Amino acid sequence: SLEKTLRPQYFNQYIGQDKIKNELMIYIEAAKNREEALDHVLLYGPPGLGKTTMAMVIANEMNTTIRTTSGPAIEKPGDLVALLNDLEPGGILFIDEIHRLPRVVEEILYSAMEDYFIDIIIGQGETAHPVHFPLPPFTLIGATTRAGNLSAPLRDRFGILSHMEYYTESDLKEIVERTSDVLRTKTDQTGAIEVARRSRGTPRIANRLLKRVRDYAEVIGEGVVTEQIASKALDLLRVDHQGLDIVDQKLLKTMIEIYNGGPVGLNTLSANIGEEMDTIEDMVEPFLLKEGFIQRTPRGRVATAKAYQHFNIPLNENEIN
Ligand code: ADE
Repeated sequence: SLEKTLRPQYFNQYIGQDKIKNELMIYIEAAKNREEALDHVLLYGPPGLGKTTMAMVIANEMNTTIRTTSGPAIEKPGDLVALLNDLEPGGILFIDEIHRLPRVVEEILYSAMEDYFIDIIIGQGETAHPVHFPLPPFTLIGATTRAGNLSAPLRDRFGILSHMEYYTESDLKEIVERTSDVLRTKTDQTGAIEVARRSRGTPRIANRLLKRVRDYAEVIGEGVVTEQIASKALDLLRVDHQGLDIVDQKLLKTMIEIYNGGPVGLNTLSANIGEEMDTIEDMVEPFLLKEGFIQRTPRGRVATAKAYQHFNIPLNENEIN
């Protein structure tokens, strides 16, 4: 499938995240030399940065297999036993959204991670009895948007903590060019840069925008993604020149126009723009913080001078804060 060809298979095809890759390459080589399972890995960071892809690459680099699931999908202890029991020795279980594991499942995960066994109660009432399941050595790879979303006992059982970062424009340009090849689309240098610049540092967004820009190029243009075509198509999608989407723009404008730049609380912003607090905290704010459009203070969020400039709104010192 397309998805399959899009996903890099090994570190040497995975663009960006150099810090994580360089660290992991060492731990993977060491584990392979000792013929042991790799220690458990927690990948955390905003959505769309390639956590699932990274987990698959780790499996390939370890020459092992990977099973993929998500926190909410594992409803009871027996589900986890089934998944772990199915792994080959040294195999990988990838749990996306691991912060959403049910509490009862999380608790039996501790001994599984630490000592490769699970004790559970089978049956109910009179017939209830404890059962001890030894497990093959395995690697758990967990993914979450914020490490702080995890309980301390679970977080502490990961030997390798990897923070996924937003991609640079030049890494995103490379990704856009790679995806263009997979899609058999002609994209020139400036076209790739324009899509990269307006992708919020996120490959998933870059690849999605590229598909829409390609549509525009084929229908309105000559089929080639140029800077001009990309720019017009992205304007149509209401992605602005810094890559801010409608939700980003709405959040910043609400802070500036309704709350005088803040400080304003997360719950207030959530009610105003109609997005969940978690969505704002995990998906919207991290990029705005990183780009310096907002700051977090103990009393709430504050729009910065850069945010005012972005919308050409004069910054009246007397009105702020
Ligand atoms: N496609 C999406 N993310 C990618 C990455 N980091 N490297 C290569 N191709 C990708």
